[in-house]
Amino acid sequence: MIAPSLLAANFLEIGKEVEMVNHSDAAWLHLDVMDGRFVPNITFGLPVIRDIRKIATKPMDVHLMILEPERYAEAFRDAGADHLIVHLEACPHLHSNLQQIRSLGMKAGIAINPHTPISLLEDILEDADAICLMTVNPGFGGQSFIPHSYQKIRELRDMIDARDLTTLIQIDGGVSLENAGDIFAAGADVLVAGNTVFSAADPSGMIRALAQSQSNT
Ligand code: DX5
Ligand code: ZN
Repeated sequence: MIAPSLLAANFLEIGKEVEMVNHSDAAWLHLDVMDGRFVPNITFGLPVIRDIRKIATKPMDVHLMILEPERYAEAFRDAGADHLIVHLEACPHLHSNLQQIRSLGMKAGIAINPHTPISLLEDILEDADAICLMTVNPGFGGQSFIPHSYQKIRELRDMIDARDLTTLIQIDGGVSLENAGDIFAAGADVLVAGNTVFSAADPSGMIRALAQSQSNT
């Protein structure tokens, strides 16, 4: 499955970009919210997401790179988020945060930074619907995939399969047509792709090509 990240879209043409995703082979629409505190960048927030919801037909996968996400979970649900991803590193009460997200009727995701070991998910895996492995340092699109991530994907795949769970493995950062097949082969379920999709001459064709690298594995 492919989840294009709107962060790399042309914001002057945001309606058209969302329509392109609507009519593409994308599984979800990925939206990156940054607060300038958890990560050194600021993107967009609730009013933008609320407007995108009016035209988006794919599930909205909202990635919160913010501190104290519990203060905003209900507001993001009301703005139209279907999935809410919070960072393990930003949540001292992660179990409670995930329960809050699920009780609001959304799928709950945990994102972990490149330096955070998979073993820290041991006691929380059952409480998440998806694990988002950051394969770049969060904050900016267009960075290179960190190769050590392959090992982490395999380790997480083994942990999920050993427990017979359906938790999805999502990969975020530096996904390209060159590495997509290897990432799927390592055990990933969903690839987020920003620049690779929106800088392509044919973004919809790129989404299709990325999705095909999953069926080829
Ligand atoms: C980075 C964001 C990503 C970003 C990916 O902090 O979480 O979703 O948009 O962009 P690319 O695919 O360009 O690395
Ligand atoms: Zn993201």
